[in-house]
Amino acid sequence: MALLKLKDRAMEAYAVARNAANFSLLDSDLHGVFGENWESLNFSEAGELLGRGGLTGEEVLIVCVETADEINLDPVDAYVRAAKRLDMNVVLIARDISPTALHHLLKLGADDFAPYPLPPNALSNIFDGLRSKQMRRTEAPARKKHRNGLILPVYGAAGGVGGSTFAVNLAWEMAVHTRKKDLKVALIDLDFQFGSVATLLDLPRRDAVFELLTDPDTLDGETLSQSMTSFKSNLAVLSSPPEIMPLDIVDAKFMQKLLELLRQKYDFVVIDLPKALTDWTADVLNVAETYFTLLELDMRSAQNVMRYLRVLRAEDLPGEKIQYILNRAPGFTDLSGKTRIGRFSDSLGIEVNILLPEGGKAVTASGDQGVPLADSSPKNALRKEIKKIATTLVDMALEARAAVN
Ligand SMILES: Nc1ncnc2c1ncn2[C@@H]1O[C@H](COP(=O)(O)OP(=O)(O)O)[C@@H](O)[C@H]1O
Ligand SMILES: [Mg+2]
Repeated sequence: MALLKLKDRAMEAYAVARNAANFSLLDSDLHGVFGENWESLNFSEAGELLGRGGLTGEEVLIVCVETADEINLDPVDAYVRAAKRLDMNVVLIARDISPTALHHLLKLGADDFAPYPLPPNALSNIFDGLRSKQMRRTEAPARKKHRNGLILPVYGAAGGVGGSTFAVNLAWEMAVHTRKKDLKVALIDLDFQFGSVATLLDLPRRDAVFELLTDPDTLDGETLSQSMTSFKSNLAVLSSPPEIMPLDIVDAKFMQKLLELLRQKYDFVVIDLPKALTDWTADVLNVAETYFTLLELDMRSAQNVMRYLRVLRAEDLPGEKIQYILNRAPGFTDLSGKTRIGRFSDSLGIEVNILLPEGGKAVTASGDQGVPLADSSPKNALRKEIKKIATTLVDMALEARAAVN
Protein backbone atom coordinates (compact mmCIF):
# COMPACT_ATOMS: atom_id res chain seq x y z
CA MET A 1 0.00 0.00 0.00
CA ALA A 2 1.67 3.19 -1.15
CA LEU A 3 0.63 5.57 1.57
CA LEU A 4 3.58 7.83 1.13
CA LYS A 5 5.37 8.39 -2.09
CA LEU A 6 9.03 8.73 -1.24
CA LYS A 7 11.23 11.44 -2.68
CA ASP A 8 13.88 10.38 -5.17
CA ARG A 9 17.55 11.39 -5.29
CA ALA A 10 18.57 14.21 -2.99
CA MET A 11 19.47 17.40 -4.85
CA GLU A 12 22.42 19.29 -3.44
CA ALA A 13 22.38 22.30 -5.73
CA TYR A 14 20.21 24.19 -8.20
CA ALA A 15 21.64 26.49 -10.85
CA VAL A 16 19.16 29.17 -11.84
CA ALA A 17 19.61 31.13 -15.07
CA ARG A 18 17.32 33.02 -17.40
CA ASN A 19 19.19 31.37 -20.24
CA ALA A 20 21.36 28.42 -19.20
CA ALA A 21 23.00 28.34 -22.64
CA ASN A 22 24.89 31.52 -21.73
CA PHE A 23 26.51 29.70 -18.81
CA SER A 24 27.18 26.37 -20.48
CA LEU A 25 30.78 26.18 -19.22
CA LEU A 26 29.38 25.98 -15.70
CA ASP A 27 28.08 22.44 -16.23
CA SER A 28 31.42 20.70 -15.88
CA ASP A 29 32.34 22.83 -12.85
CA LEU A 30 29.09 21.87 -11.12
CA HIS A 31 29.50 18.27 -12.10
CA GLY A 32 32.95 18.33 -10.51
CA VAL A 33 31.55 19.53 -7.19
CA PHE A 34 28.10 17.88 -7.03
CA GLY A 35 28.29 14.92 -9.41
CA GLU A 36 24.74 14.11 -10.55
CA ASN A 37 23.06 15.85 -7.64
CA TRP A 38 22.44 19.24 -9.17
CA GLU A 39 19.89 20.56 -11.58
CA SER A 40 19.63 23.51 -13.90
CA LEU A 41 16.44 25.59 -13.66
CA ASN A 42 15.06 28.48 -15.64
CA PHE A 43 13.40 31.38 -13.84
CA SER A 44 9.88 30.01 -13.85
CA GLU A 45 10.99 26.53 -12.73
CA ALA A 46 12.94 28.10 -9.87
CA GLY A 47 9.96 30.23 -8.88
CA GLU A 48 7.74 27.18 -8.91
CA LEU A 49 10.18 25.13 -6.80
CA LEU A 50 10.55 27.86 -4.18
CA GLY A 51 6.84 28.60 -4.28
CA ARG A 52 5.72 25.09 -3.58
CA GLY A 53 8.26 24.74 -0.78
CA GLY A 54 10.17 22.00 -2.61
CA LEU A 55 13.41 22.79 -0.79
CA THR A 56 14.75 21.61 2.53
CA GLY A 57 17.17 24.50 2.99
CA GLU A 58 20.19 22.17 2.81
CA GLU A 59 20.68 22.81 -0.91
CA VAL A 60 22.86 25.47 -2.51
CA LEU A 61 21.26 27.96 -4.88
CA ILE A 62 23.55 29.08 -7.67
CA VAL A 63 22.16 32.19 -9.32
CA CYS A 64 23.53 33.09 -12.75
CA VAL A 65 23.23 36.76 -13.70
CA GLU A 66 24.21 38.48 -16.91
CA THR A 67 23.96 41.92 -18.46
CA ALA A 68 20.43 41.31 -19.74
CA ASP A 69 19.22 40.65 -16.17
CA GLU A 70 20.24 44.11 -14.98
CA ILE A 71 17.24 45.71 -16.68
CA ASN A 72 15.04 43.89 -14.22
CA LEU A 73 16.75 42.35 -11.21
CA ASP A 74 13.45 41.62 -9.46
CA PRO A 75 13.24 37.88 -10.19
CA VAL A 76 16.88 37.40 -9.16
CA ASP A 77 16.19 39.46 -6.04
CA ALA A 78 13.24 37.27 -5.20
CA TYR A 79 15.24 34.02 -5.49
CA VAL A 80 18.07 35.31 -3.33
CA ARG A 81 15.67 36.52 -0.67
CA ALA A 82 13.56 33.32 -0.70
CA ALA A 83 16.68 31.17 -0.47
CA LYS A 84 18.08 33.19 2.43
CA ARG A 85 14.77 32.88 4.25
CA LEU A 86 15.30 29.13 4.09
CA ASP A 87 18.83 29.72 5.29
CA MET A 88 20.30 28.27 2.09
CA ASN A 89 23.74 29.08 0.76
CA VAL A 90 23.52 31.34 -2.28
CA VAL A 91 26.34 31.77 -4.78
CA LEU A 92 26.22 34.26 -7.66
CA ILE A 93 27.83 33.59 -11.01
CA ALA A 94 28.26 36.98 -12.67
CA ARG A 95 28.70 37.41 -16.39
CA ASP A 96 29.56 41.01 -17.31
CA ILE A 97 27.33 42.62 -14.73
CA SER A 98 28.01 46.01 -13.21
CA PRO A 99 29.62 46.36 -9.79
CA THR A 100 26.43 48.13 -8.67
CA ALA A 101 24.22 45.14 -9.46
CA LEU A 102 26.70 42.76 -7.88
CA HIS A 103 26.89 44.88 -4.75
CA HIS A 104 23.10 44.96 -4.55
CA LEU A 105 22.78 41.17 -4.77
CA LEU A 106 25.51 40.57 -2.23
CA LYS A 107 23.76 42.94 0.15
CA LEU A 108 20.59 40.89 -0.18
CA GLY A 109 22.50 38.07 1.39
CA ALA A 110 24.27 36.10 -1.36
CA ASP A 111 27.14 34.31 0.35
CA ASP A 112 29.75 34.54 -2.38
CA PHE A 113 30.23 35.19 -6.08
CA ALA A 114 32.47 34.22 -8.98
CA PRO A 115 32.92 35.70 -12.44
CA TYR A 116 31.93 33.77 -15.55
CA PRO A 117 33.74 31.99 -17.12
CA LEU A 118 35.06 30.58 -13.87
CA PRO A 119 38.73 30.68 -13.01
CA PRO A 120 40.10 27.16 -12.34
CA ASN A 121 38.95 25.70 -9.01
CA ALA A 122 36.94 28.81 -8.17
CA LEU A 123 33.77 26.85 -7.50
CA SER A 124 35.29 24.15 -5.31
CA ASN A 125 37.14 26.84 -3.32
CA ILE A 126 33.90 28.68 -2.73
CA PHE A 127 32.16 25.54 -1.51
CA ASP A 128 35.03 24.55 0.74
CA GLY A 129 34.76 27.99 2.31
CA LEU A 130 31.00 27.73 2.74
CA ARG A 131 31.25 24.27 4.21
CA SER A 132 33.69 25.28 6.92
CA LYS A 133 31.56 28.31 7.70
CA GLN A 134 28.58 25.97 8.00
CA MET A 135 30.46 23.67 10.35
CA ARG A 136 31.37 26.55 12.61
CA ARG A 137 27.72 27.55 12.63
CA THR A 138 26.36 24.14 13.56
CA GLU A 139 28.75 24.04 16.49
CA ALA A 140 27.24 27.30 17.65
CA PRO A 141 23.97 27.19 19.65
CA ALA A 142 21.27 25.26 17.79
CA ARG A 143 19.24 27.34 15.40
CA LYS A 144 15.51 26.95 15.19
CA LYS A 145 14.68 23.57 13.77
CA HIS A 146 13.37 23.49 10.23
CA ARG A 147 11.00 20.55 10.21
CA ASN A 148 10.22 20.13 6.54
CA GLY A 149 6.84 18.62 7.32
CA LEU A 150 4.52 16.49 5.23
CA ILE A 151 1.34 18.10 3.95
CA LEU A 152 -1.63 15.74 4.17
CA PRO A 153 -4.83 17.30 2.78
CA VAL A 154 -8.19 15.59 3.22
CA TYR A 155 -10.91 16.18 0.64
CA GLY A 156 -14.48 14.91 0.82
CA ALA A 157 -15.82 14.12 -2.64
CA ALA A 158 -19.40 14.89 -1.57
CA GLY A 159 -21.07 16.59 1.39
CA GLY A 160 -21.17 14.46 4.52
CA VAL A 161 -18.87 11.68 3.29
CA GLY A 162 -16.78 12.05 6.42
CA GLY A 163 -13.89 14.29 5.36
CA SER A 164 -13.79 16.34 8.55
CA THR A 165 -14.31 13.32 10.77
CA PHE A 166 -11.35 11.61 9.13
CA ALA A 167 -9.12 14.71 9.21
CA VAL A 168 -9.76 15.44 12.89
CA ASN A 169 -9.33 11.86 14.06
CA LEU A 170 -6.31 11.23 11.84
CA ALA A 171 -4.55 14.33 13.17
CA TRP A 172 -5.35 13.42 16.75
CA GLU A 173 -4.17 9.81 16.39
CA MET A 174 -0.94 11.09 14.84
CA ALA A 175 -0.48 13.53 17.70
CA VAL A 176 -1.01 10.73 20.23
CA HIS A 177 1.35 8.39 18.41
CA THR A 178 4.11 11.00 18.30
CA ARG A 179 3.60 12.28 21.85
CA LYS A 180 6.89 11.04 23.20
CA LYS A 181 8.85 11.85 20.07
CA ASP A 182 10.17 15.20 18.94
CA LEU A 183 7.49 15.48 16.26
CA LYS A 184 4.77 18.09 15.90
CA VAL A 185 1.37 17.67 14.31
CA ALA A 186 -0.96 20.42 13.09
CA LEU A 187 -4.57 20.33 11.94
CA ILE A 188 -5.62 23.13 9.58
CA ASP A 189 -9.19 23.96 8.64
CA LEU A 190 -9.16 25.63 5.22
CA ASP A 191 -12.92 25.73 4.89
CA PHE A 192 -13.32 29.41 5.80
CA GLN A 193 -17.06 29.11 5.33
CA PHE A 194 -18.36 25.99 7.01
CA GLY A 195 -15.27 24.49 8.59
CA SER A 196 -16.22 22.15 11.40
CA VAL A 197 -12.88 21.40 13.04
CA ALA A 198 -13.56 23.90 15.83
CA THR A 199 -16.90 22.23 16.57
CA LEU A 200 -15.53 18.70 16.40
CA LEU A 201 -12.79 19.53 18.91
CA ASP A 202 -14.79 22.09 20.91
CA LEU A 203 -12.26 24.84 20.28
CA PRO A 204 -12.93 28.58 20.03
CA ARG A 205 -13.06 30.24 16.61
CA ARG A 206 -10.46 32.94 16.98
CA ASP A 207 -10.69 36.55 15.84
CA ALA A 208 -6.99 36.36 15.02
CA VAL A 209 -7.87 33.99 12.15
CA PHE A 210 -10.36 36.54 10.82
CA GLU A 211 -7.69 39.23 11.00
CA LEU A 212 -5.12 37.05 9.28
CA LEU A 213 -7.47 36.32 6.39
CA THR A 214 -8.71 39.88 5.96
CA ASP A 215 -5.18 41.27 6.06
CA PRO A 216 -3.24 38.50 4.32
CA ASP A 217 -0.08 40.60 3.91
CA THR A 218 0.53 40.29 7.63
CA LEU A 219 1.07 36.53 7.38
CA ASP A 220 4.30 35.45 9.01
CA GLY A 221 5.44 32.97 11.64
CA GLU A 222 4.32 35.30 14.39
CA THR A 223 0.77 36.06 13.19
CA LEU A 224 0.29 32.41 12.30
CA SER A 225 1.20 31.33 15.84
CA GLN A 226 -1.21 33.89 17.25
CA SER A 227 -4.02 32.47 15.13
CA MET A 228 -3.52 28.91 16.25
CA THR A 229 -4.81 27.10 19.30
CA SER A 230 -4.13 23.62 20.52
CA PHE A 231 -6.16 20.62 21.50
CA LYS A 232 -4.91 19.19 24.79
CA SER A 233 -1.63 21.03 24.08
CA ASN A 234 -0.66 18.16 21.80
CA LEU A 235 -2.22 19.04 18.51
CA ALA A 236 -1.82 22.52 17.02
CA VAL A 237 -5.03 23.69 15.37
CA LEU A 238 -5.90 26.48 12.97
CA SER A 239 -9.67 26.62 12.97
CA SER A 240 -11.94 28.52 10.61
CA PRO A 241 -12.81 32.15 11.46
CA PRO A 242 -15.85 33.14 13.59
CA GLU A 243 -17.57 34.70 10.57
CA ILE A 244 -18.22 33.03 7.23
CA MET A 245 -15.71 34.29 4.69
CA PRO A 246 -15.39 33.85 0.93
CA LEU A 247 -12.94 31.09 0.04
CA ASP A 248 -11.14 33.39 -2.38
CA ILE A 249 -10.42 35.94 0.33
CA VAL A 250 -6.88 34.62 0.08
CA ASP A 251 -4.99 33.93 -3.13
CA ALA A 252 -2.56 31.28 -4.27
CA LYS A 253 0.41 33.30 -3.05
CA PHE A 254 -0.97 33.47 0.47
CA MET A 255 -1.65 29.75 0.43
CA GLN A 256 1.86 28.91 -0.74
CA LYS A 257 3.32 31.02 2.03
CA LEU A 258 1.00 29.55 4.65
CA LEU A 259 1.87 26.01 3.63
CA GLU A 260 5.58 26.80 3.64
CA LEU A 261 5.37 28.28 7.14
CA LEU A 262 3.45 25.22 8.32
CA ARG A 263 6.00 22.86 6.80
CA GLN A 264 8.75 24.67 8.63
CA LYS A 265 7.02 24.44 11.99
CA TYR A 266 5.37 21.01 11.91
CA ASP A 267 6.29 17.50 10.88
CA PHE A 268 2.76 16.57 9.83
CA VAL A 269 0.15 19.01 8.58
CA VAL A 270 -3.34 17.55 8.18
CA ILE A 271 -5.64 19.85 6.21
CA ASP A 272 -9.43 19.75 6.11
CA LEU A 273 -10.34 21.15 2.68
CA PRO A 274 -13.59 22.78 1.56
CA LYS A 275 -15.71 20.94 -1.01
CA ALA A 276 -15.44 23.80 -3.48
CA LEU A 277 -12.51 24.12 -5.82
CA THR A 278 -10.65 27.39 -5.28
CA ASP A 279 -7.86 29.44 -6.81
CA TRP A 280 -5.52 27.77 -4.36
CA THR A 281 -6.64 24.13 -4.60
CA ALA A 282 -3.83 23.39 -7.04
CA ASP A 283 -1.27 24.85 -4.64
CA VAL A 284 -2.37 22.51 -1.86
CA LEU A 285 -2.31 19.54 -4.20
CA ASN A 286 1.14 20.45 -5.49
CA VAL A 287 2.81 20.49 -2.08
CA ALA A 288 0.83 17.52 -0.76
CA GLU A 289 2.65 14.31 0.09
CA THR A 290 -0.55 12.31 -0.23
CA TYR A 291 -3.97 13.78 -0.96
CA PHE A 292 -6.71 11.83 0.81
CA THR A 293 -10.05 11.83 -0.96
CA LEU A 294 -13.03 10.35 0.84
CA LEU A 295 -15.99 8.93 -0.99
CA GLU A 296 -18.91 6.65 -0.43
CA LEU A 297 -20.22 3.82 -2.49
CA ASP A 298 -22.92 5.85 -4.22
CA MET A 299 -23.68 7.72 -7.40
CA ARG A 300 -23.14 11.12 -5.81
CA SER A 301 -19.52 10.35 -4.90
CA ALA A 302 -18.89 8.59 -8.22
CA GLN A 303 -20.08 11.52 -10.30
CA ASN A 304 -18.20 14.09 -8.24
CA VAL A 305 -14.95 12.11 -8.44
CA MET A 306 -15.36 11.80 -12.19
CA ARG A 307 -15.83 15.55 -12.60
CA TYR A 308 -13.01 16.27 -10.20
CA LEU A 309 -10.57 14.06 -12.08
CA ARG A 310 -11.52 15.82 -15.30
CA VAL A 311 -10.47 19.16 -13.79
CA LEU A 312 -7.18 17.73 -12.56
CA ARG A 313 -6.40 16.35 -15.98
CA ALA A 314 -7.31 19.60 -17.73
CA GLU A 315 -5.08 21.56 -15.38
CA ASP A 316 -2.29 19.01 -15.56
CA LEU A 317 -2.34 18.48 -11.81
CA PRO A 318 -0.72 15.49 -10.11
CA GLY A 319 -3.72 13.15 -9.78
CA GLU A 320 -1.40 10.30 -8.81
CA LYS A 321 -1.04 11.83 -5.36
CA ILE A 322 -4.66 11.06 -4.57
CA GLN A 323 -5.25 8.24 -2.11
CA TYR A 324 -8.91 7.23 -2.25
CA ILE A 325 -10.67 6.26 0.96
CA LEU A 326 -14.01 4.55 0.86
CA ASN A 327 -16.00 5.55 3.95
CA ARG A 328 -18.87 3.51 5.37
CA ALA A 329 -17.52 0.65 3.29
CA PRO A 330 -19.35 -2.66 3.39
CA GLY A 331 -17.83 -5.02 5.97
CA PHE A 332 -16.44 -8.47 5.34
CA THR A 333 -19.75 -10.07 6.25
CA ASP A 334 -21.34 -8.32 3.29
CA LEU A 335 -20.62 -10.86 0.57
CA SER A 336 -21.59 -8.70 -2.37
CA GLY A 337 -19.65 -5.74 -0.92
CA LYS A 338 -16.30 -6.67 -2.41
CA THR A 339 -17.77 -7.04 -5.88
CA ARG A 340 -19.53 -3.72 -5.60
CA ILE A 341 -16.33 -1.95 -4.52
CA GLY A 342 -14.46 -3.55 -7.43
CA ARG A 343 -17.07 -2.48 -9.94
CA PHE A 344 -17.22 1.01 -8.48
CA SER A 345 -13.47 1.64 -8.63
CA ASP A 346 -13.12 0.05 -12.07
CA SER A 347 -15.80 2.25 -13.53
CA LEU A 348 -14.02 5.34 -12.20
CA GLY A 349 -10.58 4.08 -13.14
CA ILE A 350 -9.30 4.61 -9.61
CA GLU A 351 -7.76 2.42 -6.95
CA VAL A 352 -9.38 2.30 -3.53
CA ASN A 353 -6.78 1.13 -1.02
CA ILE A 354 -8.34 2.24 2.23
CA LEU A 355 -11.74 1.19 3.54
CA LEU A 356 -13.31 2.79 6.59
CA PRO A 357 -16.15 1.01 8.36
CA GLU A 358 -19.46 2.44 9.52
CA GLY A 359 -18.89 3.55 13.10
CA GLY A 360 -22.51 3.98 14.12
CA LYS A 361 -24.10 6.71 16.20
CA ALA A 362 -21.01 6.99 18.40
CA VAL A 363 -19.21 8.87 15.64
CA THR A 364 -21.65 11.75 15.41
CA ALA A 365 -22.05 11.74 19.21
CA SER A 366 -18.30 12.10 19.59
CA GLY A 367 -18.30 15.10 17.25
CA ASP A 368 -21.18 16.65 19.16
CA GLN A 369 -19.25 16.28 22.41
CA GLY A 370 -16.26 17.93 20.75
CA VAL A 371 -13.79 15.13 21.39
CA PRO A 372 -11.94 12.72 19.09
CA LEU A 373 -13.08 9.09 18.92
CA ALA A 374 -9.95 8.04 20.81
CA ASP A 375 -11.39 9.78 23.87
CA SER A 376 -15.09 9.06 23.54
CA SER A 377 -15.12 5.51 22.19
CA PRO A 378 -11.64 4.07 21.80
CA LYS A 379 -12.95 0.64 20.77
CA ASN A 380 -15.05 2.02 17.91
CA ALA A 381 -14.37 0.25 14.59
CA LEU A 382 -13.85 3.53 12.73
CA ARG A 383 -11.42 4.75 15.37
CA LYS A 384 -9.33 1.58 15.17
CA GLU A 385 -9.00 1.89 11.41
CA ILE A 386 -8.02 5.58 11.49
CA LYS A 387 -5.50 4.84 14.23
CA LYS A 388 -3.89 2.19 12.03
CA ILE A 389 -3.56 4.67 9.16
CA ALA A 390 -2.11 7.33 11.48
CA THR A 391 0.54 5.06 12.95
CA THR A 392 1.47 3.70 9.52
CA LEU A 393 1.90 7.22 8.18
CA VAL A 394 4.10 8.32 11.08
CA ASP A 395 6.21 5.18 11.00
CA MET A 396 6.69 5.32 7.24
CA ALA A 397 7.69 8.97 7.39
CA LEU A 398 10.22 8.22 10.12
CA GLU A 399 11.66 5.34 8.10
CA ALA A 400 11.91 7.53 5.02
CA ARG A 401 13.74 10.18 7.04
CA ALA A 402 16.13 7.65 8.53
CA ALA A 403 16.93 6.41 5.02
CA VAL A 404 17.74 9.94 3.82
CA ASN A 405 19.95 10.84 6.77
N1 LIG B 1 -17.65 5.94 9.21
C1 LIG B 1 -18.65 6.62 9.80
N2 LIG B 1 -19.51 6.02 10.63
C2 LIG B 1 -20.51 6.71 11.23
N3 LIG B 1 -20.71 8.01 11.07
C3 LIG B 1 -19.87 8.69 10.27
C4 LIG B 1 -18.79 8.05 9.60
N4 LIG B 1 -18.13 8.97 8.88
C5 LIG B 1 -18.76 10.15 9.08
N5 LIG B 1 -19.82 10.00 9.91
C6 LIG B 1 -20.79 11.03 10.33
O1 LIG B 1 -21.29 11.62 9.14
C7 LIG B 1 -21.50 13.01 9.28
C8 LIG B 1 -20.74 13.78 8.22
O2 LIG B 1 -19.36 13.66 8.44
P1 LIG B 1 -18.33 14.86 8.19
O3 LIG B 1 -17.00 14.39 8.64
O4 LIG B 1 -18.84 16.13 8.75
O5 LIG B 1 -18.36 14.92 6.59
P2 LIG B 1 -17.74 16.02 5.61
O6 LIG B 1 -16.71 16.79 6.35
O7 LIG B 1 -17.15 15.23 4.48
O8 LIG B 1 -18.88 16.85 5.14
C9 LIG B 1 -21.08 13.35 10.69
O9 LIG B 1 -22.22 13.40 11.50
C10 LIG B 1 -20.17 12.19 11.10
O10 LIG B 1 -20.25 11.96 12.49
MG1 LIG C 1 -16.37 18.88 6.51
